[in-house]
Amino acid sequence: MINKSYKDGESINSLKKAMDKDHLIIHNLLNKFEKEISEDFEKSKNTFNRLRWILEKHFFVEEKIIFSVYLSIIDEENEYINKLLMEHEKIFRLLNEIEEDLLDNKKSDISEIKLLLRAHSRFEDDFFYPKIDEEISEKEKLKILNRIEEVIIK
Ligand SMILES: [Fe+2]
Ligand SMILES: [Fe+2]
Repeated sequence: MINKSYKDGESINSLKKAMDKDHLIIHNLLNKFEKEISEDFEKSKNTFNRLRWILEKHFFVEEKIIFSVYLSIIDEENEYINKLLMEHEKIFRLLNEIEEDLLDNKKSDISEIKLLLRAHSRFEDDFFYPKIDEEISEKEKLKILNRIEEVIIK
């Protein structure tokens, strides 16, 4: 179970905070991957696999836990979730293209996925998660955070 303690006087029951950390890890990995494509191509393949694994886990957490619990609470369709789901799909398509390039030993152009990922996580960090954090109860947030803990094993 998540510890309900408070840090720096602030509640830790925040979806924004929980996902923010992961977004930072993803962006750092993407930057590392981009650098390695030109500097150490073999190494970039390992970094890509790590990036892909982290993104798969991240999207799983968002789709199967956060979006699905939130949808069950609001009990109606949500345009923001539809937008985010479409972007997840697009990001996976771009990842597949990069993977094919890597298999062909071709240096990929990652500018599109970089832009899309940046805009996607900015929308989640600045708008979507703060909105959910405000809308749902502490008890519901805790339920979501505990489920996330089951998936993300540190
Ligand atoms: Fe997302
Ligand atoms: Fe995200």
